[in-house]
Amino acid sequence: MIKVDEIDSYYGTSHVIQGLSLSVELGEAVCILGRNGVGKTTTLRSIVGLTPPRAGSVKIGGQEVRGVSPHRISRMGVAYVPAERQIFPDLSVEENLRVAEHPAQEGNEPWTLERVYEYFPVLGDRRRSGGTKLSGGEQQMLAIGRALMGNPRVMLLDEPSQGLSPLLVGKVAEIVAKLVKECGLTLLLVEQNFRIALQMAKRHYLMGTKSKIQGMVSSKELIENQDLIKKHLTV
Ligand SMILES: Nc1ncnc2c1ncn2[C@@H]1O[C@H](COP(=O)(O)OP(=O)(O)OP(=O)(O)O)[C@@H](O)[C@H]1O
Ligand SMILES: [Mg+2]
Repeated sequence: MIKVDEIDSYYGTSHVIQGLSLSVELGEAVCILGRNGVGKTTTLRSIVGLTPPRAGSVKIGGQEVRGVSPHRISRMGVAYVPAERQIFPDLSVEENLRVAEHPAQEGNEPWTLERVYEYFPVLGDRRRSGGTKLSGGEQQMLAIGRALMGNPRVMLLDEPSQGLSPLLVGKVAEIVAKLVKECGLTLLLVEQNFRIALQMAKRHYLMGTKSKIQGMVSSKELIENQDLIKKHLTV
């Protein structure tokens, strides 16, 4: 579903992503793990065209998208949930969800308000509340729910744990894992927290210095190799 091959991305003259490759299969949940500032967000931005790579290839469902506008990449079914969530503060929960509505691909069960509330009951309870009245955890759920309303083929999720209490993070992770299992959601997740990563994904890319992928491990290998965690992550 996603195939990134040897991309290079820059901010001005600053060469942030250097020769990065990764792939995500249909229905798979994969995580990019790495410390502060290694380039995790820039990797997601490179895929969705917000920081377009200057070299290499990004394919979505086999189609080349390097150089395609973010708007068109989004229309191809790539949902990006940034770490800052970007909830519309003046809109209610329900309005935030409705603005993202986009028809489903053929053969897939479409996402509706009711279906989002089924997975995130708290959003149903708070459907009339304004975006800014929500707690951090509720905002994160709304950001994910809003992405689902666009009926994406793949979701890119940037540090869902950011700013949330461990209890809420656990709740969000549990729902996301359920979406992958029950709805066949294809997910590319970014995290610094390996416990969250283990809860949501089965395969992990370790990102290190020079914004390169240092390796790829299964959840089992990650649990068994504490040195990897010390080397690449916040414990
Ligand atoms: N808009 C920008 N302009 C210039 N440099 C930037 C910009 N955004 C990020 N950078 C730099 O690019 C590098 C990678 O940043 P990025 O945000 O991708 O890392 P990250 O792994 O997502 O970090 P974090 O864990 O803090 O979210 C960092 O050195 C950062 O300072
Ligand atoms: Mg980041």
